[in-house]
Amino acid sequence: MEKLRIAFLGSGSMGGAIMSGLIDAGYPKELISATTKSEESAAAWREQGISALSVETTPDANALIAGDADLIVLGVKPKQIVDVLRELSGEVGKNAVLISLAAGIELATMASAIDNPNLIRTMPNTPALVGKAVTGIAPAASASQDAIDATVTLFEAVGTAIVVPEQKINALSAISGSGPAWIYYFIEQWEKIALEQGFSEEDAKKLVRGTFDGSIDLLAQSDEEPAELRRNVTSPGGTTERIIATFEESDLKAIFAKGLAAAVARAEELAGK
Ligand SMILES: NC(=O)c1ccc[n+]([C@@H]2O[C@H](COP(=O)([O-])OP(=O)(O)OC[C@H]3O[C@@H](n4cnc5c(N)ncnc54)[C@H](OP(=O)(O)O)[C@@H]3O)[C@@H](O)[C@H]2O)c1
Repeated sequence: MEKLRIAFLGSGSMGGAIMSGLIDAGYPKELISATTKSEESAAAWREQGISALSVETTPDANALIAGDADLIVLGVKPKQIVDVLRELSGEVGKNAVLISLAAGIELATMASAIDNPNLIRTMPNTPALVGKAVTGIAPAASASQDAIDATVTLFEAVGTAIVVPEQKINALSAISGSGPAWIYYFIEQWEKIALEQGFSEEDAKKLVRGTFDGSIDLLAQSDEEPAELRRNVTSPGGTTERIIATFEESDLKAIFAKGLAAAVARAEELAGK
């Protein structure tokens, strides 16, 4: 990805996380530019050394910033994607790669707004902020291999990435796009039950977050699968066995599957299906 100019059109939570992750990974700031809605947000990026324009003060900021970019990352809200793509029509280079971060916006919808072969739909997640995003990448059939490779390289600079067919992107969004919310929700519930057992807030955090952190590190450093590592702490007839049996009786997996199905249904609803 050496020397590729990257424009972030919409630089809020997600676009901003990827941009910050790239900068932290050492990507040259002078190759990055950004747009925002408000002048206040643009000024905040400029303070960090990024060339940023707001549509508030420069109405054609998106076309201006995207005009000479190689990779154009669309970080506006899903309902704005079509309008922003229309603003770019005829303004971007013929080899430019248009990368959408938007949940629920299909490649066909993007293609209806701009005539460009290199359309890519992605689903990153917010750990991009700490260089640990997991991103699903679904390229249009017309996208060049160079465009796909550049997109993979962009997201690998802020974590890991996989290329998937578009039909899989809604399920992937539920699993990894929303994934940080799953994890934080578990931690919230887990800490609540520690508090209910009379532990101080500080101790509850230490117990739960420390266990989470240590278990993930152990998994990463071990050759064992999670089921084996779980069995290692589950003596037959012991207390852990009772916890797992309770989860199984309550069919925790079915609850996860129900959450995933609800998210996929919502994504289809948002896509107007
Ligand atoms: N948040 C997540 O975890 C997550 C995960 C995966 C995918 N996504 C996707 O990422 C996209 C952005 O979501 P977000 O959570 O990052 O939203 P957000 O924080 O509200 O960011 C939106 C950004 O777009 C800017 N903006 C608004 N209108 C604009 C325009 N006309 N031209 C240029 N910039 C404009 C906003 O400017 P201001 O700063 O001035 O408001 C802001 O920087 C969505 O499509 C979402 O589906 C988000």
